[in-house]
This record gives sequence, structure tokens and C-alpha cells, in this order.
Amino acid sequence: MYRTRTCGELRVSDVGDTVILAGWVQKLRKMGGMTFVDLRDRYGITQLVFNEEDNAQLCEKANGLGREYVIQVKGTVNERYNKNPKLPTGEIEIIVSELTLLNASEVPPFTIEENTDGGDDLRMKYRYLDLRRSNVRANLELRHRFCLAVRHFLDSKGFLEVETPVLVGSTPEGARDFIVPSRMNPGQFYALPQSPQTLKQLLMVAGMDRYFQIVKCFRDEDLRADRQPEFTQIDCEMSFVEQDDIINTFEEMTKYLFREVRGYDLGEAPFLRLSWHEAMKRFGSDKPDMRFGMEFVELMDILKGTGEFAVFNEAAYIGGICAKGCANYTRKQLDELTNFVKSPQIGAKGLVYARVQEDGIVKSSVDRFYSPEVLNLLKDTMQAEAGDLILIISGDNAMKARKQLCELRLLMGERLGLRDKNKFALLWVVDFPMFEWSDEEQRLMAMHHPFTAPKPCDVSKLDTDPASVLADAYDMVCNGVEVGGGSIRIHDAVLQAKIFEVLGFTPERAQEQFGFLMNAFKFGAPPHGGLAYGLDRWVSLFAGLDSIRDCIAFPKNNSGRDVMLDAPSVVDQKQLDELQLLIAPKS
Ligand code: AMO
Repeated sequence: MYRTRTCGELRVSDVGDTVILAGWVQKLRKMGGMTFVDLRDRYGITQLVFNEEDNAQLCEKANGLGREYVIQVKGTVNERYNKNPKLPTGEIEIIVSELTLLNASEVPPFTIEENTDGGDDLRMKYRYLDLRRSNVRANLELRHRFCLAVRHFLDSKGFLEVETPVLVGSTPEGARDFIVPSRMNPGQFYALPQSPQTLKQLLMVAGMDRYFQIVKCFRDEDLRADRQPEFTQIDCEMSFVEQDDIINTFEEMTKYLFREVRGYDLGEAPFLRLSWHEAMKRFGSDKPDMRFGMEFVELMDILKGTGEFAVFNEAAYIGGICAKGCANYTRKQLDELTNFVKSPQIGAKGLVYARVQEDGIVKSSVDRFYSPEVLNLLKDTMQAEAGDLILIISGDNAMKARKQLCELRLLMGERLGLRDKNKFALLWVVDFPMFEWSDEEQRLMAMHHPFTAPKPCDVSKLDTDPASVLADAYDMVCNGVEVGGGSIRIHDAVLQAKIFEVLGFTPERAQEQFGFLMNAFKFGAPPHGGLAYGLDRWVSLFAGLDSIRDCIAFPKNNSGRDVMLDAPSVVDQKQLDELQLLIAPKS
């Protein structure tokens, strides 16, 4: 037997027992004639003691150990004289009688401790060492428990886990596909699924009724803290349902997961629902962070045409937020905010501020353009009080200006400590527009995906005014993160063909790309709908992480590289030849 106990389980009640432990040397300390070793495994750390007086040879052997050596020890559990309240095993130690070296280790490139000295790149290169750190490992343990709870809940509701293929056909909507050449079909390519969307719909046509899958999805898109090129969805679909049935089922699941996995009670009340239009108007975002208020106030009536400030007089949108207690912001702090909104990522032209002084008088950066009456009206409209700071953004494109104000609101929320990672605010954003205009493609694109059903009352507008058509689509948002999204689907081949037409597909191309789905709809497709959650986003929210990378065992970096495996990489000429692929020289 390699071990009789783990390094995390021994307590005072085990004192006197003879045990065998195996693990890694975390730390080695020599004190006088004693050598102390912290032995680590997945379950914890146990202190080992070697005493020169008792066994000089053994102590000598222990002194030769290095960090991360793998060892096995036999010894007796002893009550510690100096107890360590920070360790669960801190009341005991092992008086070692036998030591076996199982494997030596090179000196690791960074310390394997909670607060490591290793930078991001180094830790990713040696991810297997990084994963030995208890806080990183805890994220994977949380992920495991999360998945178990998901499976338990969905199974209890009659959902069937069905696997779908990873080598599928390319679909032109959504993000870019990762494509895979086929050796047996030269010149042809598979695509890796961006999601199993059409396949789960086919499972509904097949009568599976309730499907789910914890499944890898692949999207070749620009990466951010909450985006990886391969990520995991909890993908779900249900037959014979309306939007409310889906929302209720997944609200119940969310409350269950919070209770069981996070120990957090979301209460009995249903989640807030905001229409997409309202979310954009009040928060400038389709994923508003509802942990705090600071709602937008539209100021067109107050500030456009009521003074000499040309920027506002020409604006298509003027909106403000009120930062409580920030009137004493210094010039430098205000400059920082201005630079933030003017940075290329945000793109605002500038920032106007107004302080409400202790005497109630408003002092603003545009004082000279407005009368005190107008500034007073501004204060009242913003419901600002003495000590508050009003921040205003305007623009000639209302949507863009709102998004800029949203970024400022999030920054102020952060600064004021209103985005507490131990608090959770959930909501549904509903009634999304069916389409959005793409400047790049110069056509309407599906806002969710092309299989989403328009609201029945809007179907007649598909020909006359498609841009105003709303969809039966919904997103679940937690703390400003889109954790999931879905829709009621089209189950009628004629309506599906109509949507492809609005999206600019010729009937031939629609048939070529999606014929399999439209044909299936001719064989008795049930009404159906569903959603998919981003598993990585949920786990990172539960763990309070800044990036989803930290809850993925082997993530990619921001350039989409796996620095440990050094992928992607060039392949042998022989492989290219077999695939009949030529690499074009760089132009
Ligand atoms: P959607 O594209 O909204 O919908 O994706 C569903 C959820 O998946 C997560 N997600 C991601 N997580 C990490 N990295 C990414 N690159 C990434 N992209 C998406 C988000 C998102 O809410 N088939 C539809 C769902 C449906 O209609 O049922 C779909 O994929 O949390």
C-alpha cells in the first residue's frame, strides 16, 4: 500500500496510530537537531518530524530532500506542541520512522503556494505545477461539484444527457468556425461546433423531449476575460414549452445551484425581468450589473438647447449618472475618469461633470454655458444631493453613448465598492430584437441565432419592418455577466425559410447550409425551446475569479495559444500532403 491515510485527514483523535502517507515536499525547515517537512497531497498538508537524536541517519536522509520531491513516509501520529490553527491538520504531526524517496524533482520555476511568485505566462507553461496550488485546485473541485449538481437537478426533471458530434459542418452565422480538414474527403472540411444548437433541435424532432449536455464549444473569436476559444456549455432543450416554462425551470435550477454549491440563498421571489430596450435605456447594457443602482437619467430635455454648449446642442443622446458622495473628487481623479472614457476602447469624446456642493450649489465643468436655474434643474432631475457628483456623457449615436456611459457606471461601481463578489444579483433580459444591423456585412444579422422564433405578434412585420421585430429570446445575467441565453425556436420550415431570406440567404444557399434542419421540420417538429449556460462563467462567478481561465484546467492565453503544449503549431509536410493542403506564402 502506498498510503493508509491522506495528508488532509489526520486529527488529534488519530494520535498514536501508525500511518503511511505519500505526497510532495512543500517545505523543509531545519531547527537545531530537528527537521520539519510539510508534506502535501490533494487533500491537505501534514507536518512530518525527523529527530537527529532518535535516528540520525533518517534525519540526514530527510535533510537531502528538496521542494516537490515525491516521498512516502511511515510514522506515528503525535499531538503537536506548537499547534497551527490555520491548518486542519495543525494539531498533529507525524514522527517519521521510515522514509522512501519515490521521485526527485527539479527546483520548480515558481513557489507552489497560494500566493506564488510565478507570473501568468510561467504558470501557464508549467500549468501542471500551478494546479498543485491549493487555490487553483479548489476551483477545479468547485467545477466538479457544480457539474454533479447540474446533472443531479436536470436528471430529477427528466432531462436526458445525449452526446452530439464534435466534427460537424460549418455554419456561416455567429462567430468564426474552427475548421478541420478531412483526409478521406480531400478539399473538404469539418467545423468544430460553436454550440450543438441545430443538433439539439434535431433531438427534439427525434422526440427526446428534454435534452441536456455538458459540452465543449469552439469559437474563433477575440478573447477576453470571460471568453475562451474552447469553453463549456450546459446546453439544454425542451419540447412542448413556452418561454415561461423554460424560464421557470432554469430559475429553479439556478436557485438550487446557488444553495447546494455556493451556500447562497437567492430567496423565493422570481428573478427580475427587464426587456432588452429597458436594460439598454436604464443601464446601457444587455447584461446590467444589478448589484448597484446608479441608473442612467436622460438629460436631453434639460441640457439640449437650454444653453450655449454646442456639444450638447448637437447630441442625439445626453445621459448622466449620479455618484453618491463623490463631489470631493480631485481634479486628478476627474481627469482619470475623462481619460478612461476617452480611451480607444471606450471612445467617448469627453466627460462633463457637475458637483453638488455642501451648500447645494451646483458647480460644473460647463458652468459658463448654463444658467444656475438649468444646473439646479439638472440636480433635481438627477435626484442628486449635497456631496454627489453627476457624470454626463453625450454622443451623436445614442446606442454608442449609452454603452460608454455603461462602462463609466461599472468603473464608478467598482471604485465605490459596490461590486462585491460575495453578493449576487440575477435577472432575465427578455424581448431581444430579432435582428441587428452589421456595418461589416452591410445586412441584418440574427441577434441570437437564425433559429430563434420571432414574437408571434411581430411575424407580420418581417416583410415591412424587420428591424423592429422582437424575438422570444432571453438571457440570464448574474453580476453583469451573461451566464446563459436561449430562445423559443422556429419549428416551421416555411417561417424558418422566411428568416433566412431576411438574413440575406438565397433559397439555394439556405437549402445548402441548413437543408438538414428545414427538411427535418417537415416531419412533425414539436414546438420547442431551450437555453445554454456558460459553465466556465458560472464557476468563475461562484469562485469570485476575475477570469474564466482560472477555473479551466488547461486554458488558452489571450492569443489563443496553449503555451504548455505549444499549440497551435506547424505540422509535418507529410500530414499536409495527405490532406492535400498547401500553405500559401505570407503576402
Ligand atoms: P450563446 O452564444 O449565447 O448561445 O452561448 C450561451 C452561453 O455560453 C457562454 N459563452 C462563452 N463562454 C466562454 N467563452 C466563450 N467564448 C463563450 N461564448 C458563449 C455564455 C453564453 O451565455 N446555442 C445557443 C444557446 C441556445 O439558444 O440554446 C448559444 O450558444 O455564458
